[in-house]
Amino acid sequence: MRLHTLFSVLFGCYGLVSGRVFSRNFQLHEARDAAPSGFVLSGPADSDATIRLRIALVQNNVDGLVDALYSVSDPTSESYGQHLSRDEVASFVAPASESTSAVQAWLNENGLNADVLSPGGDWLGVDVPSSTANDLLSANFSVFTHEQTGLQTIRTLAYSIPAELTAHIDFVHPTTTFPSGTGHAPVFVSSTSTSTSPVQRSDNTSAVCGSGNMPVTPWCLQYIYNIPSDPANSTSNGIAVTAYGGAIPQESDLQRFLTEYRPDMSNSTTFTFQSVNGGNSTSNNSQLNVEANLDVQYAIGLATGVPVTFLSVGGEFDDALLDTANYLLSLESPPPVVATSYGDNENAISQKLAYNLCNAYAQLGARGVSVIFASGDGGVSGNKNSECTTFVPTFPSGCPYVTSVGATTLLPNEQAAAFSSGGFSNYWPQPSYQSAAVSAFLTQLGGNSSGLYNASGRAFPDVAAYGTLYDIYNSRAALEVSGTSAAVPTVASIVALLNDRLLTAGRATLGWLNPWLYGAASGAFASVTAGNNLACSGGTTGFYATSGWDPITGLGTPDFDKLLTAAGL
Ligand SMILES: *[C@@H]1O[C@H](CO)[C@@H](O)[C@H](O)[C@H]1NC(C)=O
Ligand SMILES: *[C@@H]1O[C@H](CO)[C@@H](O)[C@H](O)[C@H]1NC(C)=O
Ligand SMILES: *[C@@H]1O[C@H](CO)[C@@H](O)[C@H](O)[C@H]1NC(C)=O
Ligand SMILES: *[C@@H]1O[C@H](CO)[C@@H](O)[C@H](O)[C@H]1NC(C)=O
Ligand SMILES: *[C@@H]1O[C@H](CO)[C@@H](O)[C@H](O)[C@H]1NC(C)=O
Ligand SMILES: *[C@@H]1O[C@H](CO)[C@@H](O)[C@H](O)[C@H]1NC(C)=O
Ligand SMILES: *[C@@H]1O[C@H](CO)[C@@H](O)[C@H](O)[C@H]1NC(C)=O
Ligand SMILES: *[C@@H]1O[C@H](CO)[C@@H](O)[C@H](O)[C@H]1NC(C)=O
Repeated sequence: MRLHTLFSVLFGCYGLVSGRVFSRNFQLHEARDAAPSGFVLSGPADSDATIRLRIALVQNNVDGLVDALYSVSDPTSESYGQHLSRDEVASFVAPASESTSAVQAWLNENGLNADVLSPGGDWLGVDVPSSTANDLLSANFSVFTHEQTGLQTIRTLAYSIPAELTAHIDFVHPTTTFPSGTGHAPVFVSSTSTSTSPVQRSDNTSAVCGSGNMPVTPWCLQYIYNIPSDPANSTSNGIAVTAYGGAIPQESDLQRFLTEYRPDMSNSTTFTFQSVNGGNSTSNNSQLNVEANLDVQYAIGLATGVPVTFLSVGGEFDDALLDTANYLLSLESPPPVVATSYGDNENAISQKLAYNLCNAYAQLGARGVSVIFASGDGGVSGNKNSECTTFVPTFPSGCPYVTSVGATTLLPNEQAAAFSSGGFSNYWPQPSYQSAAVSAFLTQLGGNSSGLYNASGRAFPDVAAYGTLYDIYNSRAALEVSGTSAAVPTVASIVALLNDRLLTAGRATLGWLNPWLYGAASGAFASVTAGNNLACSGGTTGFYATSGWDPITGLGTPDFDKLLTAAGL
């Protein structure tokens, strides 16, 4: 089902007035000097090329949403755990009725009808030929080509909106935010394993996992983080694993994985597939599927008995992130954990779009959903393969309403993984829930890396988990993969198993985690105190892991039993 059909309405009541000429006074709304580095202008867009314009209307009460989010997510609040319904959340972001009618009238006078894309009615979508988009927005939509990858995209360097709509329209997308040229999946493949013999239980972790070429398996992770293997029992629980770009988990690989590494589980345990906005349902692209196989194999292999839904989301990444959030917000009961191993550099995404997406994560948090993202695999340079002169934070990890996960390596004494991204957002200021933890780090940091990072920004990651040499099956062969994307399903599984215990006890799910993580749960994480991450060019150093919170491994690695206690179980 295409997402926009869920909320489709036609604005039929503002018909064109025949013969009347509408002249609007345009005002420049967003502009950039040039395309981002890597992209070159290839020429004007074909006038018939269809562009799906998404119009973000001004949301009526974002401050109220954030207040509500804190009051249901802060364990010291009286309304902790009293998560909001779909309609309650929608009412905070619904635009003023004047905004909706003014924008509808503008579209109608141009002969256009919009779809409503979000439960709050704050996103409208309309498909238009590029020539119409140029007229509507006084823009110059052109084809830009990413030289390295050949990726082509239609964007404009500037656009305007009618002056009388500036109080009603937040921004229009896709316009000046370009897609990432180099992709969004941070997973990377370390090596292929020739040995496929299952790892045996042992009390000697260095003998069974993570050392040398020995792969990490669900059993190792259960062992090092005290993750239970008995099946969860709550039926209202769940994890949604999201994927972009057409990556699809393969059932045959999952079955082989479970047979090999979870012989105590039925090897026919599987996931529910959900396509969002035309996301592909099959893929023969073995390389692309690595991420999906990793995420699903470890979510199912660690969150024993928790229903897992795989969301294959179509479209360019930024649009797909919006569609993912709006799809989940449209559900009566969204899955309590959403795990995403994809991200982008913060500076690749316009501030307006980044804020809007972050508000969508705040909405999910208010609904009781833990939104979990990988911190990125390029050390302080952001996503892997990016160049930098100052440290580059990643998105959405810089959004204060998501939980960002970094990675560790080496057992039994875990160290920060060099690739694990972390740092300080340039878009969001430091939220108070982390100020004590982050101040303590900044005091230790002293003058190190001075001028390269934004000390006043939201700091990430929040937590970490082991992230190297995960053994998976891909295209019927064993493979070892590393990345913060490996740590994500591990953390997501732990949260889902905690939720199972809470639901069974008649309690609410954990929802937005961060106030709890930095509060009652901070002692449930083992601080990682060794290792440093990569800086802007090969071989240099970024941040160092330290006692307490640090910007490579956050609060540290989890202990399930201690988290149970911290959750009052
Ligand atoms: C619009 O962009 C095209 C390239 O796509 C360029 O040739 C043309 O001069 C631009 N038009 C204006 C009015 O800037
Ligand atoms: C644990 O295993 C490693 C690697 O096989 C071995 O070198 C070490 O002696 C073992 N330690 C113990 C206490 O058995
Ligand atoms: C779920 O129920 C089974 C059967 O009663 C039990 O063995 C198992 O421990 C339960 N799981 C949890 C997490 O309590
Ligand atoms: C989706 O599938 C179609 C054909 O099945 C393929 O051409 C296309 O490249 C796939 N899209 C992605 C993003 O992989
Ligand atoms: C799944 O388990 C059954 C036995 O329960 C076994 O016969 C089958 O080969 C297993 N499947 C795979 C793909 O290993
Ligand atoms: C994928 O492979 C299967 C058989 O291996 C084939 O039937 C199917 O058409 C292929 N799909 C695509 C999109 O290439
Ligand atoms: C640093 O972060 C703050 C938000 O905390 C932001 O206002 C400021 O613009 C950022 N500085 C830079 C140089 O981006
Ligand atoms: C500061 O940098 C030095 C290396 O120049 C390093 O040894 C030390 O651990 C760093 N301290 C912190 C807190 O990052």
